[in-house]
Amino acid sequence: MTALVQRARMDDTLAEAVGPPPVVSLRAVTRVYPGVKPVEALAPTDLDLNPGEFFSVVGPSGCGKSTLLDVLSGLGRPTSGTVTFNGQAVDGVVPEGVGIVFQEDASFPWLTVRDNVAFGLKHSTVPADESQRRVDHALRFMGLADFAGAYPAQLSGGMRQRVCIARTLVTRPSLILLDEPFGALDQQTRLLMGDELLRLWRETGATILLITHALDEAAMLSDRVGVMSARPGRFIDMVETGWPRERDSSIVSDPRFGEITARLWSRLRAESLRAMGAQGPGGGR
Ligand SMILES: Nc1ncnc2c1ncn2[C@@H]1O[C@H](COP(=O)(O)OP(=O)(O)O)[C@@H](O)[C@H]1O
Ligand SMILES: [Mg+2]
Repeated sequence: MTALVQRARMDDTLAEAVGPPPVVSLRAVTRVYPGVKPVEALAPTDLDLNPGEFFSVVGPSGCGKSTLLDVLSGLGRPTSGTVTFNGQAVDGVVPEGVGIVFQEDASFPWLTVRDNVAFGLKHSTVPADESQRRVDHALRFMGLADFAGAYPAQLSGGMRQRVCIARTLVTRPSLILLDEPFGALDQQTRLLMGDELLRLWRETGATILLITHALDEAAMLSDRVGVMSARPGRFIDMVETGWPRERDSSIVSDPRFGEITARLWSRLRAESLRAMGAQGPGGGR
C-alpha cells in the first residue's frame, strides 16, 4: 500500500469517527441586552446541530430561547462568541438556506394565501416561472391548494401557521428554525401539526431546530432535546430520544415517550420555579 492510499484510508476512518461537519456551530455565544439594567439573556453557550437532525429546545419562560434563535439565525448579533452556518461565520444577516417560522401568526391579513406564500420569494433572484412552481408545490405540500385564493381571516389557526411554514418552504431552506410555532393551537391540532412537521423534515432532509414550551411535543418530535436553565440560559441537559426516522404522534403510547417526558420535566421543574421566583410568570416573549 502506498503512503498516499494509507493516508486516504486514515482520513476516511477519521471522518467516520467524527461524523459530518455540523450545519450550525455556536461557540461560547452570549447575549446581553444593554440598558440601565443590562439583561444577561444567554450564558456562554456551545451547540452543534448535525445535518438532518431534528433538535428541540425547551426551557422556562424568559430563559433566552428566542434570544438563542435570534443569534443562531443571524437576526441578532451575539454579544460575544461565534456562530457558523455551514462553516461560514454568521454576522447579523440571515444566511441563504435558513428559514424561520415565528411563534405568533405572522401571515399578512391583506394578502391571499397564495400571495402570502409567494412573499417568501419577494426579494429573491429566483425567476418568475420557477417561483410559481415553488409556490404551487408549497401550497400542495402544506395542504393549502384549495385555499390559495382565501384570506388568512377565513382560515383556522392551524391553517394560518401552515401558510407561514409554506412561505418559508419556498426558499428551500436546509435549516428551518421554528420559535414556538404551535403555541396558540389546541392540543389535537398541535399533535397533527407535529406530524406535518415530521413529514416536512423527512421529505426535505432539512435540519430542524424547534423551540417549544410543550415537553410532549419535544419528546415526540425530536432526535435530541436541549434543556435550558433559567436566565441566563445555558444547556443543562441533552436528551437523545433514539426514535426511528419514520415516526409520528402515535409514539405517545410508547413507554419510552413517558420516560423522556419525565426526564425533561425533572430537569425543568426546578429551573421553572427559579425563573418564576426571579421574574414572576410571563417574562420573555
Ligand atoms: N430586546 C430586548 N431588550 C431587553 N431585554 C430583552 C429583549 N428581548 C428579550 N429580553 C429579555 O431577555 C430574556 C430572555 O428573553 P427571550 O429570549 O425572549 O426568552 P424566551 O424566548 O425563553 O421566553 C427575558 O428576560 C427577556 O425579558
Ligand atoms: Mg420566546
